[in-house]
Amino acid sequence: MKIVIINGPNLNLLGVREKSIYGSEAFAGFLDKLRAAYPDDEMTYFQSNHEGAIIDELHRVGFSCDGIVLNAGAYTHTSIAIADAIRSITAPVVEVHISNVAAREEYRHVSMIAPACKGVIAGFGLDSYRLAVEALKNCR
Ligand code: DQA
Repeated sequence: MKIVIINGPNLNLLGVREKSIYGSEAFAGFLDKLRAAYPDDEMTYFQSNHEGAIIDELHRVGFSCDGIVLNAGAYTHTSIAIADAIRSITAPVVEVHISNVAAREEYRHVSMIAPACKGVIAGFGLDSYRLAVEALKNCR
């Protein structure tokens, strides 16, 4: 499968940022392990702190890949534009979060993008991404 992982704002600082919430592992090392666990699948990675760049990437890959794992970061809670982009493409999108957003501040309980996604995985640390890959494999 061709799977695209997209990380949104501030997720370039994983391993550095708020370690008590997001852990101390950098995403690059985690991605190496994830790729090694799925040698038959192609996993490409994109990260941006900019809403429009995330939308451009969804448009770019969203008609050709088999599935997208999207952690939109704080845009999850605000971005109708990203929700519309997800609705505009054909690839299934799984929303992921490292933390359990339902157990955090109230403003994190709302997801603008969840209704446009195939499903949501949250709260399992970086393992949320692996679970999302599994979900994409099973929803084919
Ligand atoms: C996050 C949760 C969001 O609320 C937050 O803004 C993030 C990370 C997570 O992975 O837990 O940046 O998406």
